[in-house]
Amino acid sequence: MATKIKVEHLSIHYGNIKAVKGISFEFTRGQITTLIGANGAGKTSSLKCIAGLLPAKTGKIILDKDNVHIEITKMTPADRLRCKIALCPEGRGVFPNLTVLDNLMVGAYLNKDHKKILELVEQQYELFPKLAERRNQLAGTLSGGEQQMLAIGRALMSEPEFLMLDEPSLGLAPVIVEQIFDKFVLLKKQGLGLLVVEQNASLALEVSDYAYVLETGTMTLNGTGEALLKDSRVQEAYLS
Ligand SMILES: Nc1ncnc2c1ncn2[C@@H]1O[C@H](COP(=O)(O)OP(=O)(O)O)[C@@H](O)[C@H]1O
Ligand SMILES: [Mg+2]
Repeated sequence: MATKIKVEHLSIHYGNIKAVKGISFEFTRGQITTLIGANGAGKTSSLKCIAGLLPAKTGKIILDKDNVHIEITKMTPADRLRCKIALCPEGRGVFPNLTVLDNLMVGAYLNKDHKKILELVEQQYELFPKLAERRNQLAGTLSGGEQQMLAIGRALMSEPEFLMLDEPSLGLAPVIVEQIFDKFVLLKKQGLGLLVVEQNASLALEVSDYAYVLETGTMTLNGTGEALLKDSRVQEAYLS
């Protein structure tokens, strides 16, 4: 039985603004799931809510593990990290005045095992050799692509089973985006469950096992990445 996160009838409001209106979707370990949608569709709100950074107005978020259902809807962000769910936020959010190494260490803040933390740092350096070269450099001096790698590495420092990525390709050159998506495929093969949010749909759909389209707070389409790539509605709205 696959381990997955199930989102059921989730609504998210900001005062009177209904940002997310009763959406349901799921993502599974060992797969890449993509959420595509235009600016303002509710993608970031959904990820923040799963990470515990925004409350759900209605609905449930369930971790389905070995046939045991753990409801996480009201858990603190730290408890969700302990449930192995991590978020790589929109805009990367690296600490510009900390070194690469110190940014990575922040990602392991729940871990008290110093030896293990150093092992995890080495793992991120192996995944992104650029980070190893720049380990003592301040994060603010890195290129956009390197900052994105650092943000991903920092999220991986919590040893997640699920990693949510909010627009990882934003503002990056196509060649860098491809390098980063190659790593997503590698991480998936290692058993991670990735939920990738993208406005830039074509590459994301190409590597997706499953994908959902979110429009003004509502899920309008879903299917395999392959099926959505061929869908004329997706092609018109997101691939042209
Ligand atoms: N802090 C906030 N206060 C009020 N409205 C917000 C806030 N954050 C987002 N929204 C609104 O919620 C909707 C969804 O936003 P968001 O989740 O950021 O979409 P996306 O990530 O798909 O661009 C938008 O209409 C946006 O204006
Ligand atoms: Mg967003």
